[in-house]
Amino acid sequence: MLKLVIIYGTGSHNTERMAQAIEEGARAEGIETILRNVSSADKIELVDAHAIAIGSPNYRDKMMPTVQKFLNEMANLELSGKIGLAFGSYGWGLEAVQAINKQLTSYGVEMINDLAIKRMPGEEELEICRRVGSLLACKIKNK
Ligand SMILES: Cc1cc2nc3c(=O)[nH]c(=O)nc-3n(C[C@H](O)[C@H](O)[C@H](O)COP(=O)(O)O)c2cc1C
Repeated sequence: MLKLVIIYGTGSHNTERMAQAIEEGARAEGIETILRNVSSADKIELVDAHAIAIGSPNYRDKMMPTVQKFLNEMANLELSGKIGLAFGSYGWGLEAVQAINKQLTSYGVEMINDLAIKRMPGEEELEICRRVGSLLACKIKNK
C-alpha cells in the first residue's frame, strides 16, 4: 500500500496541528499514513515510505535540534525518488522549513513546495494543510 510518513517536532502544538491535518488530507485519498512526534520516530519506518513529510517550528532562526538530529540520522537511508514535504509553524522567519527542504533535497527526495503557517493554524490554514496532504497522496498515486 502507498505510504506517507509524517514526522514533526513541536513546542506549543502548532506544527503538530499542521501534521495532523496533513495526515487527514492524505488519508482521505486512501493511502496509509504514519504520524510521529520526532521524539518517538524511528527512521526504519521511512524505508518503505513513498512520501515523507518532515516538520519543525522555527526557533531562534533554526529547526528544533531534535528534528535536526533526526534529519542527520536519515543520511544513510536510500531516499532518492521519494516525494517530500517540509512544513512548520513560524513567527517571522522561514529558516526551519527552508533548511529541512535543503537537507531532504540533498538526499535525493523530490520536494513539493514548503508549507509554512504563521503561529497557530486556524480553520482556513488547517484546510490548506489537508489539501497539501491530499496533494502528496495524489503525487505518489500518479507516480
Ligand atoms: C523562544 C522562542 C523563539 C522563537 N524564535 C523564532 C524565530 O527565530 N523565528 C521565527 O520565525 N519564529 C520564532 N518563534 C515563534 C515560533 O516559531 C512560533 O510560535 C511557532 O508557532 C511555534 O510552533 P510550535 O507550536 O509547533 O512549537 C519563537 C518562539 C519562541 C517561544
